[in-house]
Amino acid sequence: MNTEFFKIDEKHIDYSAIESCADIIKSGGLVAFPTETVYGLGADATRKDAALKIYAAKGRPSDNPLIIHIAKAEDAEGYAHTSPLYYALAKAFMPGPLTVILPKKDTIPSEVTGGLDSVAVRCPSHKVARALIAASGVPIAAPSANISGSPSPTSAAHVTNDMNGKIDAIIDGGECEIGLESTIVKLDGNKAILLRPGAITADALGCVCEEVEISSAVTHALAQNERPLSPGMKYRHYAPSSPLVLLDGSEKDITDFLLKASATENCVILCYSEEAEMLSGAKLIDVGCRSDLQTQAQRLFGALRQADTMGADIIYAHLPPLDGLGLALYNRMIRAAAHTVKKV
Ligand code: TXA
Ligand code: MG
Repeated sequence: MNTEFFKIDEKHIDYSAIESCADIIKSGGLVAFPTETVYGLGADATRKDAALKIYAAKGRPSDNPLIIHIAKAEDAEGYAHTSPLYYALAKAFMPGPLTVILPKKDTIPSEVTGGLDSVAVRCPSHKVARALIAASGVPIAAPSANISGSPSPTSAAHVTNDMNGKIDAIIDGGECEIGLESTIVKLDGNKAILLRPGAITADALGCVCEEVEISSAVTHALAQNERPLSPGMKYRHYAPSSPLVLLDGSEKDITDFLLKASATENCVILCYSEEAEMLSGAKLIDVGCRSDLQTQAQRLFGALRQADTMGADIIYAHLPPLDGLGLALYNRMIRAAAHTVKKV
């Protein structure tokens, strides 16, 4: 397949390019597009044949459901059974990086939801994504636009690397601002169960919901045969091809370990900016300053992709903190590392 490329700037949207891409969606094709979190691989969420093409292009297991992207929070009414808590969350966080799991209506084929009777709904804030959804006139089902198992794409180059020749079009809208996928919650009365942490933190959810429960799968490996609340939790994710090891210890002990490792091992280090000079000579990827979790989030998936091209036997990175945006970084990195943490 010949993949068409469109460059669309969020600040000066080229509506004729948006129309061309919307035509592809309306005719059942696949378009990769930017969002504020990561790039999505979009198709008409009301069409089973279009949804099946997403699974084929990604190599995604058919029981792992897709998120449907809508233009306005109220549009969920056409596809899901909403609740007062849904609208409270929508008022606080939509459009934005929040996905809410709701009981589904029959307008969404079961192929989109991996056979589940619930559907994940998200209203993105990225202007190109919003323009595409509006012009298509349908909800857009979109997982992250990577090959299943590899890090989510945060630039059009990442998407091209994984999807060129497999999909109809790629919209290049520059680098994604947040860099980690949306926060996912499932609602249970007045309680929100956090299934995937993201830029909308547990504390922020707590300002709207009476209770926020963090699913144990956010930080821990699933026990064998355990049935996850979200099918995506059971699949290996974000994995670079060299093993990733997360370092836990004091600043000084980690520095000593990294200095020694860089002299004796063929390693890549995902380092903080403050460490770059001291470790110069080693294979380094600067992920941002120690306290700047936003930059670390924005760079993480690109760093994992880059680390893979550097021919190392092992990749070292810092174990992120568990609070605030740290929880989202922790969740992605612990899975990329297959839960390998080294105490130093
Ligand atoms: O930021 C994002 O959410 C990006 C952009 C493109 O919007 N999308 C994204 O989609 O990360 P994906 O498919 O890579 O991850 C969606 C996750 C999967 O782990 C899936 O299992 C879970 O959401 N999910 C989807 N529908 C669900 C449902 N009905 N119940 C439970 N989990 C669901
Ligand atoms: Mg994904």
